[in-house]
Amino acid sequence: MPELPPEIHISDDPAREVADLLADQAARGGSIVLTGGSSPVRAYRLAAALQPDWGEVSVWWGDDRCVPPDDERSNYRLARENLLDLLETPPREVHRIRGELPPERAADELDEELVGVELDLMLLGLGPDAHMASLFPGSPQLEVEDRRATWGPAGLEPFVDRVTMTLPTICASKQIVFIVTGADKADAVAATFGGEIGKAAPASLVRLAPVPVEVFLDAPAGSKLAI
Ligand code: 6PG
Repeated sequence: MPELPPEIHISDDPAREVADLLADQAARGGSIVLTGGSSPVRAYRLAAALQPDWGEVSVWWGDDRCVPPDDERSNYRLARENLLDLLETPPREVHRIRGELPPERAADELDEELVGVELDLMLLGLGPDAHMASLFPGSPQLEVEDRRATWGPAGLEPFVDRVTMTLPTICASKQIVFIVTGADKADAVAATFGGEIGKAAPASLVRLAPVPVEVFLDAPAGSKLAI
């Protein structure tokens, strides 16, 4: 499969562009996979304002921390407060990762829920170590190819176990979108989208997916990319 070069967009307000993509997908309906971390917050809020009807959408999370849904570290809670609670028409399905369960059970549950599911839009953040979802460099989770979801310890703070979609699941989605901001991500951005594809930079592996990968950056995050 020839590698498709990632489409890099650098702007003052990447959240605005990602919000447009989320709102367009929500208007068409389908399955949207959300991410955690701090980067997507503004994009979620803008998307809810642009498209308050998510009635034809199934919402998923690419990963979550193994904490209860009201814990401040929960990726579900982040999306609920900044997106789901702001909608006029809620999604028809919300496939929350059940972080309150033992992680192996939550991972099994997600794995089963994903059987036969086509994911339309996969939103991802990027860690400073170039991880995506909860696929950290050197972690066994990155090697899992026979499951749709798995679990393991965190490679970075917060150090709670994580449940995550696996690399084959992420790469099988129809569209992959990253939002990355801040100078502390510049090296990870350069390694992921400008360097060699490999497990040292887990997010670089999406460049092997046979689908478009769109990367929305602010100027500091993109400052070390040679383009
Ligand atoms: C998580 C994530 C993770 C995140 C990146 C970027 O649960 O932590 O889903 O993959 O997207 O670490 O996080 P920031 O946006 O906070 O830098």
